[in-house]
Amino acid sequence: MTTEFTRHRGMPEAFTLCLNPAARPDAAWTPAQDAVLNDTAHAAALATVSAWPGYEQTPLVNLPALASKLGIAALDYKDEGGRFGLGSFKALGGAYAVARLLCAELSRRLGREVPMAEVTARTHAELVAGITVCCATDGNHGRSVAWGARTFGCRCVIFIHATVSDARRDAIAAYGAEVRRCAGNYDDSVRAAQDTATREGWFVVSDTSYPGYMEVPRDVMQGYEIMAGEAFDVLETPPTHIFLQTGVGGMAAAVTALAKRRWGAERPVIVLCDPDRSACVMVSVRAGTPTPVTGDLDTLMAGLACGEVSALAWEILKDHADAVVAVTDEAAVDVMRRLASPAGGDPAIVAGESAVAGLAALQAVMRDPEARDLLGLDAASRVLLFGTEGDTDPELYARLVGRTAADVRGGQNVSSQE
Ligand SMILES: Cc1ncc(COP(=O)(O)O)c(C=O)c1O
Repeated sequence: MTTEFTRHRGMPEAFTLCLNPAARPDAAWTPAQDAVLNDTAHAAALATVSAWPGYEQTPLVNLPALASKLGIAALDYKDEGGRFGLGSFKALGGAYAVARLLCAELSRRLGREVPMAEVTARTHAELVAGITVCCATDGNHGRSVAWGARTFGCRCVIFIHATVSDARRDAIAAYGAEVRRCAGNYDDSVRAAQDTATREGWFVVSDTSYPGYMEVPRDVMQGYEIMAGEAFDVLETPPTHIFLQTGVGGMAAAVTALAKRRWGAERPVIVLCDPDRSACVMVSVRAGTPTPVTGDLDTLMAGLACGEVSALAWEILKDHADAVVAVTDEAAVDVMRRLASPAGGDPAIVAGESAVAGLAALQAVMRDPEARDLLGLDAASRVLLFGTEGDTDPELYARLVGRTAADVRGGQNVSSQE
């Protein structure tokens, strides 16, 4: 039986908490999980990506005033807004998968093992120019794939669904990709990308896995693990809790996998955070098996608007993610404003709509004694969050927060939220 309850139904602060009965801190790290994410793959991804021009670790920002207001000991926020100038952690995944795909395809065509260095150096420019990669995206993944394609010299076509903003479309096109808009939601654009690729002989670089399509999304997740490693390496004391927003679950699974491999049964409590309008991870945890949600998945948290959990992510999350919290769009916007106008001397942070579900869930849970107790959160807790994007849609950010990202960073018009 799943422990689950909803509070404040219909209100902006509404949330649902659902415990995962199958998760245990001492659950084994299985061979199937190790085939997806492992230490060798982590080292390979780090060696490749850290050699790219512009690589820098993103900052881990300590927020003591917010921690004390929430009633916990420490709060650390890994701010991915500056990642490779692309605005989100996704720069680590799609572009790395493009590099890996080109490496494999060149090896196949040349009949020898082509080293990654030859991809990065564009040694086989003519061959690579004849290769087309494509994907579906709600913005950030497509930007990463387009950037990777331009960096390594292949052609790129990106499929976006009906509600992806024009600003996000333009940001992808700026990397030289052809952008095609299709009807329906994110999952419909995934199918359109796959069908077109099959017809045209293109390569799909998807961030979500489905039966028969595992290798590329596995590479994407291996790229994401770099973010987790950077954060874990600089924390002096391991966190007691990690809150992770979920779209298809790939990012959350990558962080969870490294936490499990690093700390074993002592791993932090892992809390997944879904938008309440596209809570595919929650319905899957409730059912104990991947279960889609349908409809337009119309959440402001565009990067999290996914109806189906990734099969590879599920393989890891089913055993090692302890709970799911679903939050409202209003709660996300409240948190964006709070981070932009911090109280008590914390630094201001520019966080996009899809970056804050983790903090929104933490805030909701800390206000509710039963939820707090169920998750073991108290005054000694040290919580780690991943702020997975900055203002990837600058106009929308300014509309929601009331100031531009530049003004927030410059500390202008700060009226701290109490
Ligand atoms: C900013 C941001 N955060 C989190 C996610 C969720 O990642 P995943 O789909 O791997 O769960 C996304 C996905 O697009 C995103 O863009």
